[in-house]
Amino acid sequence: MSRKYLIAGNWKMNKTATEAVDLIEEVKSLVGNQSSVQVCVCPSFTSLAKASELVEESQLLLGAQDMNAESSGAFTGEISAEMLRDLYVSFVILGHSERRQFFGETNHSVNKKILAAVENNLKPIYCIGETLEERETEKTLDVVGSQVREGLESFPSQSIENLVLAYEPVWAIGTGKTATDEMAQEVHAYIRKVLTDIFGESSASKIRILYGGSMKPENAAGLLAQEDVDGGLIGGASLTARAFSGIVEAALNA
Ligand code: PGA
Repeated sequence: MSRKYLIAGNWKMNKTATEAVDLIEEVKSLVGNQSSVQVCVCPSFTSLAKASELVEESQLLLGAQDMNAESSGAFTGEISAEMLRDLYVSFVILGHSERRQFFGETNHSVNKKILAAVENNLKPIYCIGETLEERETEKTLDVVGSQVREGLESFPSQSIENLVLAYEPVWAIGTGKTATDEMAQEVHAYIRKVLTDIFGESSASKIRILYGGSMKPENAAGLLAQEDVDGGLIGGASLTARAFSGIVEAALNA
């Protein structure tokens, strides 16, 4: 089964809409004309409207960093799936560890968002991963297994090709520490096994599993060469066009 690589840039709470225009233009000129690797940028909500105009007529895709599970109503400050679709957003990052840590998100609450996203034809990038303490006490596979099972409860099998997972060890995010190629492959293979238990082998083989956590041009080739690593979710290195496109190049050469 050949899965097309996806390289997604998670800009987090960085870049004004004005700054986003410059960065997207640069990314577009460096890697926006090819379709062998899918490339997605996920700026802040405030930049999505401008970004959607800019990525039109290029191969770049647009993603959001979160959304509410409800479709509309009295939820001050929140953004719905329909609002994202209206801006031609394709992907939405859900359950990022920073949202779990700082905003109280759980497998259960993220599950509701995932189901709402696919119902609205958005492709969820569902983030999972263990903390340092969980790794040191050898709980990694248990933790990740529960995140997959609980976060994907009732996931409709007809939407399987829209599902993306991102394995992001919490201790590797923004720290400069990366999982070794072997560590990443071990967990990715386990995630695919759990997905096989849930959805069957044929469906599980179609789901892309990204690696995230201090991925950069220098370590991307080794990680992307692993059998079950189907791309990257990039934080820090997505904030400069050169570093981000360096990772896309690594995927193009993988
Ligand atoms: P990082 O972030 O690349 O800066 O480690 C990855 C992420 O949080 O998605």
